[in-house]
Order: sequence, then structure tokens, then C-alpha cells
Amino acid sequence: MSQHSSAYNSSESNHYRAYRPPLHKLILSRILKDRHFEIALDIGCGVGTSSLTLVPYAKRVIGYDPSQAMIEKTTPHPTITYTSLIGELPNSCDLLCFFGSLEYIDARELEKYTQKLVKGGQLICCDFEVDYQPILEKIGLEPMRADYKHSKNLTDYPNHKGFKEHLRQVEPTSFNCSIEQLKSLLYAEFENMGESTKVIDSAPFERENYELKAFLYYTTYTKL
Ligand SMILES: C[S@@+](CC[C@H](N)C(=O)[O-])C[C@H]1O[C@@H](n2cnc3c(N)ncnc32)[C@H](O)[C@@H]1O
Repeated sequence: MSQHSSAYNSSESNHYRAYRPPLHKLILSRILKDRHFEIALDIGCGVGTSSLTLVPYAKRVIGYDPSQAMIEKTTPHPTITYTSLIGELPNSCDLLCFFGSLEYIDARELEKYTQKLVKGGQLICCDFEVDYQPILEKIGLEPMRADYKHSKNLTDYPNHKGFKEHLRQVEPTSFNCSIEQLKSLLYAEFENMGESTKVIDSAPFERENYELKAFLYYTTYTKL
């Protein structure tokens, strides 16, 4: 397991359920275009935002997350099966997606997940990084941690042979959100860092709407 918390608890799952930045569709449309798959496995699906975004690209989507609290907050969909039980995962898939989850996954676990991908199948490592810094400075909150690698991909693992890389991109973007949505994002970030969220409640937010800048990170591979 990586150094960061993988214990996404009930409170964090509530913040995830309340709001996620509208960036999943943008990233997956860049990567998958008009491709279509039989079984997409979404590892670290959280409350299902990434799984729901995979629906147009696959006949069946399996969303897996070890946090039962996250799975309990997922949005049902007829072609998605969610589970927190590793034993319930299918033995094979032709699309394997790590959306914002790779930072929590060690080499041994990665091996277990990638074994499920058929030869010729596609693997996606992707995430986004929201730049909260300008807002935090304005409202006098401490900067976020800088040690979380949103761009993590197979090259960060010692043995990543057997995959052909196709696309590696870092792309700037921005999105608008309300003050309530911004607070949900900050609550989730602070809780994930083990910080008290009281400072967010007492911070002097001045506006009703915010434009946040973000970076999209995505790398895609084919299994050889
Ligand atoms: C940043 S969230 C991303 C959630 C979702 N994919 C999304 O895009 O909204 C990371 C997720 O990875 C999950 N996770 C943590 N450790 C994991 C592991 N070892 N294997 C798979 N998922 C893990 C967490 O429970 C959490 O829900």
C-alpha cells in the first residue's frame, strides 16, 4: 500500500457523493474516442463517477473499491456492477481503468489487477489535479500537500513490462463550481490528508461561484 491513506471513510464518501469536478467525461473522451469494449474494470471506483463515465464505452462496467463506504454511495446503473469484494471481480476484462486510484496501489496489487486484462486490452491511468492554491491563499488556509503524484502511471512501478504506451498527456483546463461544491472538494481533500475541516467552515469565502484551474493527466497502454 502506498504512503497515503487508502481508508476513504464514510464522511469522505459523503463529500465525494455531494460533488466531483466535471472532468471525468473530458478525460475519457480524449482517451477512448469511439472505441467500445466488452468488460471495463474500474479499479478504485469511489462513489462510481468514473464507472458511470465508462458506461458509453463498454457493454458491462465493473466498479471495484476496497472502501465499502464508497461502494454504499454509488449510483446504480443497469450495466454497472459495483463491489468492494476483490473475489467478485471477473477473471478477464478488455478495458482496465485506474481513475485517480493508482497513488494508492502498490506493485503487487497492480500485478493482480493487470493480470485480469486480456492481451490487446487497453489500460488507462488517469487523474486530475485541481489547483486550490489561489483560493486557499485568499481565505488564509494552509497549502495542500505536494507529495501526491496525480500523473502516476506504469513507469512509476519497477516492473511495468508487457505494455505498449500509446498516449501520455498533461492538459490544463478549468471548471466552475459553487461555493458549496468547492467546500465539498475541500472537505474531501482535508479529510484525506487527516486535517481538521473546521478551518473550512470558518474561512471567509467571498463569492458564490469559483473558477478552478486543473490539470488532466492521462496515459494509455495496450497489453502485449
Ligand atoms: C481519488 S478516489 C477516485 C475515485 C473514482 N475513481 C473517481 O474518479 O471519482 C481514489 C479511490 O481509490 C480507492 N482505493 C484506495 N486504495 C485502493 C486499492 N488498494 N485498490 C483499489 N482502489 C483503492 C479509494 O477507496 C478511493 O475510492
